[in-house]
Amino acid sequence: MEDNIGRMPLIGDPAPSFKAVTTQGIINFPEDYKGKWVILFSHPADFTPVCTTEFMTFASMADEFKSLNTELVGLSVDSLYAHIAWLRKIQELEWNGMKNVEVKFPLIEDIKMDVAGKYGMIQSQSTTQAVRAVFFVDPKGIIRTILYYPASLGRNFNEIKRIILGLQKADKDSVATPANWEPGDDTIIPTPGSCGVAKERMENKDENKYCLDWFLCFNKEK
Ligand code: BEZ
Repeated sequence: MEDNIGRMPLIGDPAPSFKAVTTQGIINFPEDYKGKWVILFSHPADFTPVCTTEFMTFASMADEFKSLNTELVGLSVDSLYAHIAWLRKIQELEWNGMKNVEVKFPLIEDIKMDVAGKYGMIQSQSTTQAVRAVFFVDPKGIIRTILYYPASLGRNFNEIKRIILGLQKADKDSVATPANWEPGDDTIIPTPGSCGVAKERMENKDENKYCLDWFLCFNKEK
């Protein structure tokens, strides 16, 4: 069990590959998701209150993520039968305007912690439960963002969606996104790599761009 603690892949690493049994059949990760973004997330246990609210929220947003070419894959250190029973129970619950919520994305059975161990999801908080980890994997199978939350703190799903949108925007337009960026907000032009480019920027008359200083220039997005 101790061996599973602390092996955490990093941003920029290829997502560790695995084959797993899920509530939607066997998956080969990340091969089955080539060309798509994936949010791979873990939760501590089935039939627990915070996790239940998280699953209702994630499942309610699944179509929004699909429209962003993004698939969801969940994991906990529980059996397939526990997963099935919990997902059936979730469908009977009503909370925060959500009801009859069907979880259609795969939930990985990981009793032996094979996957959780590869992703550093078992941490000092508990050697038998995963933390609330979220891995954002890009269409080439590279880890692009990692979030870890403790068991007591439900995740912010608007932030999870914002991260996908921000990563996609950065890739599409070769820009960065400023603090509290939301879709439609101005974006940051990458820092100049030479004195010449810095000077050009400050002399730039392009009305679609503006600089606060040579190192902090924005694209107007509206
Ligand atoms: C929960 O999801 O409510 C939970 C899970 C594990 C520990 C504490 C809370």
